[in-house]
Amino acid sequence: MRLPIVAGNWKLNGSRSSATTLAREIAASPVAGVEVVICPVAVHLDAVSTDIKDTAVKLGAQNAAAQESGAFTGEISAQMLSEYGCEYVIIGHSERRSLFGENEEACANRFSAVLAAGLTPIFCVGESLEDRESGNTMKVVEKQLQAVFSVAGASVFERAVIAYEPVWAIGTGKTATPEQAQEVHQFIRGLVASRDENSAQAVRILYGGSVNPGNASELFAKDDIDGGLIGGAALKSADFLSVCNAARL
Ligand code: PGA
Repeated sequence: MRLPIVAGNWKLNGSRSSATTLAREIAASPVAGVEVVICPVAVHLDAVSTDIKDTAVKLGAQNAAAQESGAFTGEISAQMLSEYGCEYVIIGHSERRSLFGENEEACANRFSAVLAAGLTPIFCVGESLEDRESGNTMKVVEKQLQAVFSVAGASVFERAVIAYEPVWAIGTGKTATPEQAQEVHQFIRGLVASRDENSAQAVRILYGGSVNPGNASELFAKDDIDGGLIGGAALKSADFLSVCNAARL
């Protein structure tokens, strides 16, 4: 049985004090039977890690460098994130890919660096609306995962999380139907299984894209959907906790 995960991706939102308030509100209502992860802006990690200390809530970051150290202005290494108590790192989010030019190879290298630092990557994949409408969803998702298989192999997915996030569903209020999501999740698990059966059974595959308290239960009820990566609804503690509750085993 895979323990579900709900991860809140706070993106570029909040002040130090609002991040602290949100983290404390979430930590004050423990939800059993699901791993709860919050991913604040990097400069708020230190404050938030104190707020959730000794609670079940886990800390994640929104990206990590492919390198450990050196002349890489603006980057933060996975090792440094681990010093702040991070256990998870989102890698390859569609906003990183489309707005900041992170290509498949770059995302795969960042993924490997996260694993090498002993942290768990949450590796995002997903198609654009154009890809979906032209029938290329599976091809695009396969290519994104293939980049990681090439750099790190498939057995590493035993220690990683995948998030399927159709780009057309992110922040748009348009959610994939549970059937559309399950179809891609099953395909992803099959891709991993064709290379490493144990990893395929172990890897948790999250759905992301306009998940909210109203649609979470139906999505999480699907066999291959092991929780969610939540954007907008992660910024209000009541909504986020309600989504976490929907994922409980
Ligand atoms: P959303 O974002 O829930 O606001 O659609 C999800 C994400 O980008 O991870």
